[in-house]
Amino acid sequence: MSAISRRQALALALGAGAFAATAAQSAAVTVAVAPRVAGPILLNYNENPLGPGPKARAAIAASIDRGSRYVGVEGDRLIAAIAAHEAVAPERIALGSGSGELLNMLALGWATRGAVTCAWPTFGQLMSFAGEIGATVRRVPLDARLRHDANAIDEASPAGTGLVYLCNPNNPTGTVLPGASMRELCLRLASRTLVVVDEAYMDFVEPGATESMVGLARGDADVVVLRTFSKLHGLAGLRVGYAIGRPDTIARLRSLEMVSPNLPGIVAATASLGDAEFIEHSRSTLMADRRRVTAACRELDMACSDSHGNFVFVRTGLSATEFRDRMRSFGIEVGRPFPPLNDWSRISLGRPEENTALIEALRAFRSGRSVRAA
Ligand SMILES: Cc1ncc(COP(=O)(O)O)c(C=O)c1O
Repeated sequence: MSAISRRQALALALGAGAFAATAAQSAAVTVAVAPRVAGPILLNYNENPLGPGPKARAAIAASIDRGSRYVGVEGDRLIAAIAAHEAVAPERIALGSGSGELLNMLALGWATRGAVTCAWPTFGQLMSFAGEIGATVRRVPLDARLRHDANAIDEASPAGTGLVYLCNPNNPTGTVLPGASMRELCLRLASRTLVVVDEAYMDFVEPGATESMVGLARGDADVVVLRTFSKLHGLAGLRVGYAIGRPDTIARLRSLEMVSPNLPGIVAATASLGDAEFIEHSRSTLMADRRRVTAACRELDMACSDSHGNFVFVRTGLSATEFRDRMRSFGIEVGRPFPPLNDWSRISLGRPEENTALIEALRAFRSGRSVRAA
């Protein structure tokens, strides 16, 4: 084949509302995933395009008639469900309109007390907001394996630091620190500052590669763990995330809330926590495709970081902007630039058929095959 057309790439991606389980699942399981939305293949924002799951979709539909009322008991029910899921008391949980709102609230409450330390590059939302409100941000380069440099972060965070932001797995690299190293770093830092551990992608980690710091957030150390319904649960557009931490820290965080989470998001998140079949299907499908896409990239001589997220981070040899334009010509949207890693690109995982189209496009890109306009 001398060329792949944009239409061919897109044709591969036309999915139905349900599909039989892939090789990653046990035989003959069929899970009703959300129908594919028409348009380009969106591999740019680390979403879960299989969602929302069936129970969440039913809960959203049932909430429509209550849309004229403010959220009441539904919020308490979600907090109770999260508390049971995480084995913590409800006063250790704060909800946010996405974990993004919680990141801004943390910056507002703690970056006004002292500087922020973080690895770089990482997910920049808290640091951007902190910068806007006049805080100093100390960015510590990732190590040679694109992982957090624990000693350098510790050294860059003297007493008087407002907070330290640790993203594990890290976005955009997907890399993790082993559980014991994370725990040791968090405990060292928490003796002098607030530690924020962003675990947006913790559900996709290969077994044993790292550990959640929720265990620390259940105790007395000043460690706040952030989780979101935007990734594994496939609810990014519905804006629900949560923080777990010490009751005094959580009480302060709650007082900084700007927008209370919305009713469809709250009921969808509550229902999704009880949808084990959809959650396991999403997790195994996305993790199997991370291995498949990573293997394909390596076969094509493109280096990949050791990603534990629902995305891969690939050294394409082009600037992220140039690579984005090349992929756009195949009808595929990929991630934005993450300086200073300028010839790397982040590619989110899509539906299995979309990932197949991605692999075909990467092969065409590496072999210099032309792209026919559709
Ligand atoms: C590491 C990390 N944290 C937080 C967020 C924010 O997610 P949300 O506001 O949808 O919960 C993202 C979004 O991509 C992310 O990558």
